[in-house]
Amino acid sequence: MRRVPVTALHAGMKIARPVYSAGGQMLLSAGLELTERYIERLGKLGINFVYVEDGLLPDLEVDDVISDETRSRARSLMRELLQSSTGKRVDIKRCLLLSKEIQSVVENIVDELLGNKNLIFDMMDIRTHDDYTFAHSVNVGVLAVMAGLAMKMPRERLLQLGKGAMLHDIGKIDLPLSILNKPGKLTEDEFDQIKKHCQVGMQILKHSGYVNIVEAAVALQHHERYDGSGYPGGLRGEQIHLFSRITSIADVYDAITSNRVYRPAFPPHEAYELLAAGGGSMFDYEIVRIFIEIIAPYPLGTIVELSNGEIAAVVENIPGFNLYPRVRVLFDPYGQEVGEMKEYFLARQRDIVIHKVIDDVFKYVKERSAQKKSG
Ligand SMILES: [Fe+2]
Repeated sequence: MRRVPVTALHAGMKIARPVYSAGGQMLLSAGLELTERYIERLGKLGINFVYVEDGLLPDLEVDDVISDETRSRARSLMRELLQSSTGKRVDIKRCLLLSKEIQSVVENIVDELLGNKNLIFDMMDIRTHDDYTFAHSVNVGVLAVMAGLAMKMPRERLLQLGKGAMLHDIGKIDLPLSILNKPGKLTEDEFDQIKKHCQVGMQILKHSGYVNIVEAAVALQHHERYDGSGYPGGLRGEQIHLFSRITSIADVYDAITSNRVYRPAFPPHEAYELLAAGGGSMFDYEIVRIFIEIIAPYPLGTIVELSNGEIAAVVENIPGFNLYPRVRVLFDPYGQEVGEMKEYFLARQRDIVIHKVIDDVFKYVKERSAQKKSG
């Protein structure tokens, strides 16, 4: 299977991993053949990529860092939690009840990640516009725990970090969706309202009694920036709690790799660059260094053009070498299919680098072979 942006899908490709709606119903099942109508619908829903089977990489399996079951349970819990406010008033009792379940799902996430040897984050998470806030909360939790693991935190700390990170936006509970999902530029007043979610979140968590002060601090501080340019306190450097510094990076990374109503997602390699560039200014440099080791700029199944002109697919990401993955050559520089198995591990093959990412490989090779004929 391989990962294909929705903008590069063609009728006839087969879905390799099921696609779910915000409500958890299956929209497209594995094995389903795409038609133009399905492709159009995926775009309208705000989904930015899917996994397809089109014969190019039949033996490539792509697994999420946590189980589908845990992810979908965490997502529906977050939905319930964030929608448990009645009108303007937050239902603290309901939040309390859900908080115990959240604890258990965070334990699942931490234990699954602890048992996972190959911790590179591949961005498997397919989500719709409607699902954004819930799916985002879960992913920020997963990414934060992965960073904590790379920092060798003990399980107890990972649980605190994961819970704090997953609940970081709970203060958005009483913000109107019309502001949260506004397609255009926010007015000053609307932005002031959004900024309040940090203090509101802290208050909710403090009152819930199930969360300790460190976890609540993440809700308060996740928009603070290392250089002091954030809000609400304008804190800088180590005035910001370690958990909040980790969560702020996970939050930004996950947000920029998602389609939003007001802008399309950044592709993984660009998001990687943006994150790396924020080290030392927006973000704690040391933590950014850890993040860029665990996120894949070229997720498995990404099609790339190499510097020698060959067109290849990423088939293995190796921790510590994620800018130099193992790739399998699919087409020669003239767009002709390569018959024999030919792979490079780019970390060892220092004369070949990734030149660019190709979204629509079939269109690309067609143009290449047309050029060859005319040239
Ligand atoms: Fe936030």
